[in-house]
Amino acid sequence: MNILVSGGTGYIGSHTCVELLNAGHDVVIFDNLSNSSEDVLDKIEEICGKRPKFYKADMLCPDELESVFSENTIDAVIHFAGLKAVGESVAKPWEYYNNNVCGTLNLIHIMDKYGVKKLVFSSSATVYGDPAFVPITEECPLGITTNPYGETKKMLERILSDYQKAKADWHIVLLRYFNPIGAHESGLIGEKPNGIPNNLMPYIMQVAVGKLTQLRVFGDDYHTPDGTGVRDYIHVVDLAKGHVAVMKKFEDAPGVFIYNLGTGVGYSVLDIVHAFEKANQIDIPYVITERRPGDIDSCYSDPSKAEKELGWKAQFDLETMCRDSYRFAKKSL
Ligand code: NAD
Ligand code: UD1
Repeated sequence: MNILVSGGTGYIGSHTCVELLNAGHDVVIFDNLSNSSEDVLDKIEEICGKRPKFYKADMLCPDELESVFSENTIDAVIHFAGLKAVGESVAKPWEYYNNNVCGTLNLIHIMDKYGVKKLVFSSSATVYGDPAFVPITEECPLGITTNPYGETKKMLERILSDYQKAKADWHIVLLRYFNPIGAHESGLIGEKPNGIPNNLMPYIMQVAVGKLTQLRVFGDDYHTPDGTGVRDYIHVVDLAKGHVAVMKKFEDAPGVFIYNLGTGVGYSVLDIVHAFEKANQIDIPYVITERRPGDIDSCYSDPSKAEKELGWKAQFDLETMCRDSYRFAKKSL
């Protein structure tokens, strides 16, 4: 297939482009490079020997999207482009709603104009809020989001589902990612946040390379086995392969399809710290501090629907996630 990847130079997008190219698909990327760099294209080419076609284009600019669609015959779109920093979204709600919601509306509008009717959307486990139960199945009711970023995901799931009701020949796949970590085994691509990281693994990576002195563990009084928060960490390459598996779903009847992409296993913050130390033979100093507002006890998936319907299951273990994260950190941070 000829697949258009929005946000394809970003963290999850770049890994997905590698897996799509390795699976024999053709890839066109558009990205405005607000949170990534064009060098990623060289790295993708170095990894798989093929270079995706690239457009520096902003989904807020319909003219820029027009060139992408008029110059290519696109079979399906995987839509990663978006702003994703939770704290920043609280400080800049207008930018988040505008970019994520208006940008996506522009994208589906132009898809419709060019008769492209297959879309995969990057959603998040954040739509479950404080989940009604764990492990979380796709039937779990959506929860209350605590920030504009999470709300854009919930709104976009609703918007895209409503849209499909009116456009019955569209396939729309909503993928709810749990916590992607790790990097490609080459160490050439990975996650490189701007400034001080908010998320656990990027923070540990900076402590590991000596850029930050110690990790703050946000609370040890949660209702979890060791008191620290439990999450479902998934290797980004497994997540990327989940997108390749979705391409086969497009051969079935149209509709809206929702899948959790996680491993089904929950690890605590201290599990992650100790696994990183063991996998990489390095100390990660840490201190226990106050809870972070909005954090929940446990969030992990039941990923069985994706296995049953897409034939996809995460393969990489925590040790590999930690090793690959550190390899990328040493090369790039
Ligand atoms: P990322 O920031 O690395 O990638 C997103 C890409 O989108 C960036 O390259 C950025 O430059 C681009 N972009 C942003 N706004 C754009 C616009 N207006 N026009 C064109 N390009 C634009 O983020 P990521 O971690 O790869 O996440 C990809 C998607 O998955 C996002 O939608 C994110 O919300 C979602 N998601 C991520 C996680 C996670 O933990 N990383 C979890 C759940 C869902
Ligand atoms: C993050 C996002 C959420 C997204 C989810 C899945 C935030 C606030 N939330 O949530 O929107 O859907 O990823 O990708 O970014 N922790 C520490 N010290 C740190 C950083 C984190 O102890 O310096 C703890 C947290 O309290 C939590 C765990 O580590 O228990 C994971 O945190 P994080 O990586 O930020 O992910 P989520 O909170 O799951």
